[in-house]
Amino acid sequence: MNTSKTKDKYKIAVIPGDGIGKEVMEATILVLDSLNIDFDYVYGEAGDECLEKNGTALPDETIEIVRNADACLFGAAGETAADVIVRLRQEMKMFANLRPVKSYPNTHALSNDIDFMIVRENTEGLYIADKEEMTEEGAIAKRIITREAEERIIDYAFKYATENNKSKVTGVHKANVLKKSDGLFKEIFYEVGERYPDIEKEDFYVDATAMYLITQPQNFEVIVTTNLFGDILSDEGAGLVGGLGLIPSANIGNDGALFEPVHGSAPDIAGKGLANPIAMMLSAVMMLRYLGENEAADKLDDAILRVLTEANVLTGDLGGSSTTMEVANEIKRLMD
Ligand code: NAI
Ligand code: MG
Repeated sequence: MNTSKTKDKYKIAVIPGDGIGKEVMEATILVLDSLNIDFDYVYGEAGDECLEKNGTALPDETIEIVRNADACLFGAAGETAADVIVRLRQEMKMFANLRPVKSYPNTHALSNDIDFMIVRENTEGLYIADKEEMTEEGAIAKRIITREAEERIIDYAFKYATENNKSKVTGVHKANVLKKSDGLFKEIFYEVGERYPDIEKEDFYVDATAMYLITQPQNFEVIVTTNLFGDILSDEGAGLVGGLGLIPSANIGNDGALFEPVHGSAPDIAGKGLANPIAMMLSAVMMLRYLGENEAADKLDDAILRVLTEANVLTGDLGGSSTTMEVANEIKRLMD
């Protein structure tokens, strides 16, 4: 991520999508607008409604909007989520998936001092659809580990640690069983690590890590791992700090970045003003840091922390009775 402000005016692709995606996006734009940063929002369509209306869940026009923007905010899609978000990640070659795991007060976090980042490789590993095949005996999936992609993600993790005052990076793999593929991952982890002498390095097996996340989550600062392991550990991380309404994420590439809450379109609560907008707003905080707008990011982050600490204006998932826009207006008020 960048550490200094990159521009005076930013073009932001905004894709609200379906269901609560639209509600949490409206709430997030409201708070972004009170930050005194010059944002030029370009709205794009995608998702189930878009499919019904235009015959495609992700029109070329939307891809172009994302391509031409400094960053993209994405709400949520419904049943077409894979067609939209997976395709956008591929089109934009967003190789890094970032999931912060941080405990906030008055949430369902397992402990109140958790704060680490999971950096997941997003382009290879076991998740390459055309490497899966049916055979006479059943089916085979190939796991692809290339030096180029793993070096890129590991270097990204060390850079992230350096720029965000983290003192340690943990490489997660299963090199005892996957001797060649994860043996290579582990080798590259320490090779790249040598370029960052001030950062402490450690590596764990993925199964042990799954346990350590529960028994000693405070031990972690930055975790870097391959695609499938990162997918699973990310959701474990979400469970650690409780509640989909609070978990943001980022997809980063060399030519673009997309920020989205981890939750989906939540048809069960959509259209009722019940959605918690904080996951989307924390995704916007990640976007601000990516753009180098660290002061604004701190300001929004602090206001969110205050709303959670004071616990007077919260949505139903956190035990409150406020609406999506009431939470947004309270956060805006705290920033004014
Ligand atoms: P979901 O995340 O939409 O909802 C799961 C549960 O969490 C629901 O009970 C929902 O009400 C609650 N929830 C989620 N976000 C919330 C928020 N901000 N505030 C309060 N409560 C919240 O996942 P689900 O139900 O599995 O999928 C619903 C639709 O969303 C599906 O069509 C699925 O394909 C899509 N989806 C899209 C994603 C994306 O666009 N990235 C990711 C996950 C699911
Ligand atoms: Mg997942």
